[in-house]
Amino acid sequence: MSVLEKLSSKEAIALEEKFGAQNYHPLPVVLSRGEGVFVWDVEGKKYYDFLSAYSAVNQGHCHPDIIGALKTQAEKLTLTSRAFYNDMLGVYEKYITSYFNFDKVLPMNTGAEAVETAIKLARKWGYEKKGIPDNKARIIVCQNNFHGRTISIISASNDPVATENFGPFTPGITSIRYNDIEALREALEDQNVAAFLVEPIQGEAGVYVPDDTYMKSAYELCKSKNVLLIADEVQTGIARTGRLLASCGNCSCADKNCSGSPEVKPDILILGKAISGGVFPVSAVLADSAIMEVIRPGNHGSTFGGNPLACAVAMAALQVVRDEDLAENADRLGNIFRKEMEQLVQDSPLVRLVRGKGLLNAIVINDSEDSSTAWDICVALKNNGLLAKPTHGNIIRFAPPLVMTEEQLADCIQIIRKTILEFEAHMD
Ligand SMILES: Cc1ncc(COP(=O)(O)O)c(C=O)c1O
Repeated sequence: MSVLEKLSSKEAIALEEKFGAQNYHPLPVVLSRGEGVFVWDVEGKKYYDFLSAYSAVNQGHCHPDIIGALKTQAEKLTLTSRAFYNDMLGVYEKYITSYFNFDKVLPMNTGAEAVETAIKLARKWGYEKKGIPDNKARIIVCQNNFHGRTISIISASNDPVATENFGPFTPGITSIRYNDIEALREALEDQNVAAFLVEPIQGEAGVYVPDDTYMKSAYELCKSKNVLLIADEVQTGIARTGRLLASCGNCSCADKNCSGSPEVKPDILILGKAISGGVFPVSAVLADSAIMEVIRPGNHGSTFGGNPLACAVAMAALQVVRDEDLAENADRLGNIFRKEMEQLVQDSPLVRLVRGKGLLNAIVINDSEDSSTAWDICVALKNNGLLAKPTHGNIIRFAPPLVMTEEQLADCIQIIRKTILEFEAHMD
């Protein structure tokens, strides 16, 4: 069979099952094209993408500005490695640091690499600036976090599916309850803590939104103890939650493109996914000079980190967020979406609650965590033209591209409503 031969959905799924490691459990849909908020399967059926590649495709599929930047740069220079300078990296570094209001950036590729980088940076800062004794640095994390899949990162996880039989794990990690400021206060009594690593909203865990004051209190507590606040905004960042960054929390600043309220500015900011609009793996760790200066030549790096193609794509993708007011749109549509889902909670005993911010939302299905109900609803949603995926059993995450229009959202709400009500009727 030629590799270019057109496959049916069934054939494509069979190939993945036969030749691929089974580390994912996808919905049975095979996609071959995307544009804006839509994707098409190999048979030509059109769907609303209500997952956006876990918030990587905030700018919509194949945004022409981003693809244009990709093509132009791809014809000039793609990779030099950091053995030499290139004419794109400095321009990108200036662009992204001023965009997010930090002195310095360390460019990487995936979210997990950026989290690893942030942990290394925080440990080194802890030894060299804070004076933590050798090999004693600790990083505080939250229960039910998701920061990626490397050994050190899963060492911070309490999810048995992610950790079982992958030990031994990386030491120096203290896990506390999320959204529990007293637990943080207690953990910070340890003088050897270098950093608190936190998601401003826990996405993978099921879109848990902490109290309005959580990030601000955490920030102030960390400051008072000379501990770095590391915000993992790989999923929540770049306009997803109705603000450029979710760590802005409920700051009263009216500027949706503001890169952090004066009250909460993470010491280290981790970004990934939507930095490239889902076109290319690009991630970044941002910090001010007093922190970033502990990293010297040879301490850290990546062959692809900061490559010219990534720089061009990332600048185009970040510019789209500004040009198209995506934070504003996410905020406005998110409010409409949750209001409609709250109505559905009233109308259907199958939906227990809705929560989220901007266009990062989840509904909790009224069934046990190990039931297949949420999965079955997602299959029904797929059949009705909308793609979403359960996260942790009975929770369905809804995260469409931020370029969605109000009319398209109304259409999606109708699909979700109809699917849930039909599903419920079918159960009786
Ligand atoms: C908050 C958070 N951090 C890190 C990651 C890891 O990113 P990647 O899959 O690009 O390694 C994710 C991925 O979902 C995430 O949601």
